[in-house]
Amino acid sequence: MSELTAGVTVSADPGAGFGLDGKIAIVTGAASGIGRATAELLAKSGCLVTAVDVNHKGLATLDLGDDGATDVADLSVPAACEQVVAGVLSHRKRLDILVNAAAILRRVPIAEADAALWEKMMDTNLLSQFFLCRAAGEAMKPRKWGRIVNCSSGAGLVGGFFGATAYAITKAGIMTMTRSFAKDLGPHGITVNTLSPGAIDTPMQRTGVPREALEANRARVPIGRMGLPAECARGAVFLASDLASYVTGHILAVDGGSLMR
Ligand SMILES: NC(=O)c1ccc[n+]([C@@H]2O[C@H](COP(=O)([O-])OP(=O)(O)OC[C@H]3O[C@@H](n4cnc5c(N)ncnc54)[C@H](O)[C@@H]3O)[C@@H](O)[C@H]2O)c1
Repeated sequence: MSELTAGVTVSADPGAGFGLDGKIAIVTGAASGIGRATAELLAKSGCLVTAVDVNHKGLATLDLGDDGATDVADLSVPAACEQVVAGVLSHRKRLDILVNAAAILRRVPIAEADAALWEKMMDTNLLSQFFLCRAAGEAMKPRKWGRIVNCSSGAGLVGGFFGATAYAITKAGIMTMTRSFAKDLGPHGITVNTLSPGAIDTPMQRTGVPREALEANRARVPIGRMGLPAECARGAVFLASDLASYVTGHILAVDGGSLMR
């Protein structure tokens, strides 16, 4: 270390929990798939997790340990996003980590996409993450520490697939939004990154993509298989941990190498 980094500290040994023990976390989309696996892995790593989703049944079966909490909310409504953060501040008195996984996938050909589809996709996938990032950033600023992990998609880099154009555009927006927040919040000690999953075996893939397309996709993945939600969760937990203290504005692809094809 020199005078250029005076006052900067990094724990020599981040410990088994990689600095996550006791951290206060919100995970959205936590009733299912990647959000669910991330909420449970953060809880196992010592975080006090508030799991948020519109699906109350999925939330009810989560394993978040003794200190977990759930919040049923429709995050396509900006005021609901702000209320989720306010609720955690009131309950836990601070916020350290936000993981934004909630989203929907709709496959509608460009010729048939109407304004209602656009509004639904933008509100659910992009605006929700914007309002949650903004509220979380404000909540994290006073302590000068925070980690925000958004969920994008390889679809946002390649223009979508099988009619998922509106979905892809929301996911491309999340990448730019992440970098905008990373610049804005960096001086406050808050990192903002994006996880970009490839084909992960979740309800979104199983119900949203035709079976023959899933098979074709799988054949193109260099690692030779679809990914598990737990593998994406590890990427999200890395970005939320002390191991990623100098990583911000990054797009972490957890996709078995799909983007190389
Ligand atoms: N599964 C994949 O292959 C894949 C690939 C690329 C990106 N992603 C992204 O990863 C994230 C997680 O996807 P997944 O595959 O786990 O999906 P999933 O469908 O299994 O889970 C998404 C969750 O979001 C919740 N949700 C949807 N709308 C909501 C709303 N308005 N308010 C609150 N909660 C809402 C759903 O109820 C659901 O529990 C998403 O952002 C998705 O776009 C997934």
